[in-house]
Amino acid sequence: LLHTKIPEGLKRLPGPKPFPIIGNVLDVSSNPHLSLTAMSQRYGPVFQIQIGTRPVVVLSGSQTVKQALVKQGDEFSGRPDLYSFRFINDGKSLTFSTDQAGVWRARRKLALSALRSFSTIQGSSSEYSCVLEEHISNEGEYLVKRLSTVMEAGGSFDPFRHIVVSVANVICGMCFGRRYSHDDQELLSIVNMSHEFNQVAGTANPADFITFLQYLPSRTMKAFVDINGRFTRFVQKLVREHYISYDKNNICDITHSLIDHCEDRKLDENSNTQVSDEKIVGIVNDLFGAGFDTVSTFLSWAVMYLVAYPEIQEKLYQELRENVGMDRRPRLSDRSNLPFLEAFIMEIFRHSSFLPFTIPHCTTKDTSLNGFFIPKDTCVFVNQWQINHDPTVWKEPFTFSIERFLNADGTELDKLEAEKVVTFGLGKRRCIGEAIARSQVFLFLAILLQRLRFHELPRHPLDMTPEYGLTMKHKRCQMCSSPRS
Ligand code: HEM
Repeated sequence: LLHTKIPEGLKRLPGPKPFPIIGNVLDVSSNPHLSLTAMSQRYGPVFQIQIGTRPVVVLSGSQTVKQALVKQGDEFSGRPDLYSFRFINDGKSLTFSTDQAGVWRARRKLALSALRSFSTIQGSSSEYSCVLEEHISNEGEYLVKRLSTVMEAGGSFDPFRHIVVSVANVICGMCFGRRYSHDDQELLSIVNMSHEFNQVAGTANPADFITFLQYLPSRTMKAFVDINGRFTRFVQKLVREHYISYDKNNICDITHSLIDHCEDRKLDENSNTQVSDEKIVGIVNDLFGAGFDTVSTFLSWAVMYLVAYPEIQEKLYQELRENVGMDRRPRLSDRSNLPFLEAFIMEIFRHSSFLPFTIPHCTTKDTSLNGFFIPKDTCVFVNQWQINHDPTVWKEPFTFSIERFLNADGTELDKLEAEKVVTFGLGKRRCIGEAIARSQVFLFLAILLQRLRFHELPRHPLDMTPEYGLTMKHKRCQMCSSPRS
């Protein structure tokens, strides 16, 4: 960008001066969400850094981000060709690959429609509004039992270890029509792998931009490649089984419905076949991958916040007692009657901003933003953490306060405030699992809160420091729960 000719009427992007070879790598540091937020205060909501020799545009501030991702959505909807992304789903991921716009759009549409159909169909009993509610409710019940058993046997538990299996089972139910036991070693080895994945896939990983780093031996990179291979093989095995059991008249999960889509296409002479069968059925890889780590990271943070703020935990419990009672499990339809819980969830999304950046974007043509010129194929980072901690938008942004999302008399969620939080991205690449994710975090939390009280393990204070990555996690820890009577 430094040497690009700027079209008349447009300005050159501001930003820190890069060093030769490494660019601004040292300025970005190990916590890019913090360093790039600090830089936005100096250079404004659109600025440029260089990682290695590659220019990157960084966006902050909700107006600027909306302008780019929503109003100029098509121009900012690409994905950059990053080294680590080539290992995810064999380079064929819907989320991370550099698919042409037409292919990405067709796959995204299919993924959205599959998710919608297999979350909203009727469950096995009229007790549930839909099959998604049934899956979450049953997995929530198993989770309560599991945590209680582990507590009795060992006196404490690692929350992420158990939550991740329950959440994975919800998405497994929709994608593959099956669930796994909490002791299934194969599933555990897949879902407990996220540390290295998150480190490497996190925004601003130097090895993605500085070519020579890709040739240096790296234990983390080796683990990343290994995890992706294991994950792909796990899903491929399930897909093979689904090809064998495929029956056109009995389509009851997402994998079967994607296979069915491919079969229908073969019979239709006019069908558009620019997307291969492999890329269609491979959508299930993205849904499963994106579906368990995000939601379980959120829920694991949520129990940490419950322990850290016991007075909020009591308030949430009292709200549940009064509005749901203790005689039945909470339901999705209780949401509008539980404003504290809704506000608690919003404040965790904002305060933790555990997805500090969206997945990197890339410009699809020469464009401009706020009067600055940005050429085609420029990598773009979108700083969600900055938007959620912007002192011009949020009063005391570092204070954890659920009241900021409640109306004046504290009886309703303030929807306008809630809409200011950005966690699922915006515009064309916005998360397609948002509705499912919001249902899961609400219902799992309501079930846990109704049945258990979470507290610290004596002499083991919680460490809430996030570890930077694609999703930021708290350090693995031990905590306790006791049953609510
Ligand atoms: C993309 C957040 C749960 C599927 C994304 C993006 C974010 C995000 C920030 C990137 C947006 C961008 O690049 O601009 C979250 C959060 C979740 C969550 C915070 C949970 C709390 C889910 C679930 C699913 C899912 C449950 C599927 C079942 C996807 C997919 C994409 C995506 C497929 C890629 C979309 C594309 O590239 O077109 N999500 N997500 N997510 N998410 Fe989610």
